[in-house]
Amino acid sequence: MPSEPRSARRSVTDMTEYVLPTHTNVYGTVFGGQIMAWIDLCAAICAERHCGAHAVTAGVDDLAFQRPVRVGQVVRLRARVTATFRSSLEIFVDVEGEDPVAGERWPCVSAWLTFVAVGADGAHVEVPPLAIETDEDRALRADAEERRRTRLERARRRAP
Ligand SMILES: CC(C)(COP(=O)(O)OP(=O)(O)OC[C@H]1O[C@@H](n2cnc3c(N)ncnc32)[C@H](O)[C@@H]1OP(=O)(O)O)[C@@H](O)C(=O)NCCC(=O)NCCS
Repeated sequence: MPSEPRSARRSVTDMTEYVLPTHTNVYGTVFGGQIMAWIDLCAAICAERHCGAHAVTAGVDDLAFQRPVRVGQVVRLRARVTATFRSSLEIFVDVEGEDPVAGERWPCVSAWLTFVAVGADGAHVEVPPLAIETDEDRALRADAEERRRTRLERARRRAP
């Protein structure tokens, strides 16, 4: 696998989903689980674009939904790599609702996910490092390192 640093820009992933009745609950708003599935897909594409390899979801940090999205509206997702480690990387996904008729957009939820790059045998493989090109890249990576410490500590405490 190439070990040259790769820019976060090259793997930014955008998804746009139209909300159909099959995506919604009895109140006509999208199921949280449907949005989580879209988040996972968007982040997986971003991770695989960065790694040039398949990647599996190792974990998702807490989610808090801010405002619902209704049938006939649109869910917009954008994923980017915030940090790479040895075989894992952190992906940030920002989700917005959009009313295409009214031309309105609003924050829906955001999520941090950890993916692990895997080879053909399913074992983890090293990920290409993230190129740090801007102050924003540097700040996002510093925050990601802090989150990684917390989540690995939690995972250690959960272990039997
Ligand atoms: C994720 C998985 C591949 C890691 O297995 P592994 O390679 O044997 O585990 P290791 O302990 O060697 O850790 C490998 C990496 O995963 C990271 N990791 C493992 N568990 C993690 C967790 N709960 N949260 C965040 N990162 C985790 C480790 O920190 C390590 O990262 P690093 O190499 O960048 O330091 C394995 O647990 C797995 O296959 N889980 C199921 C994945 C899955 O089915 N996802 C849903 C469908 S895609």
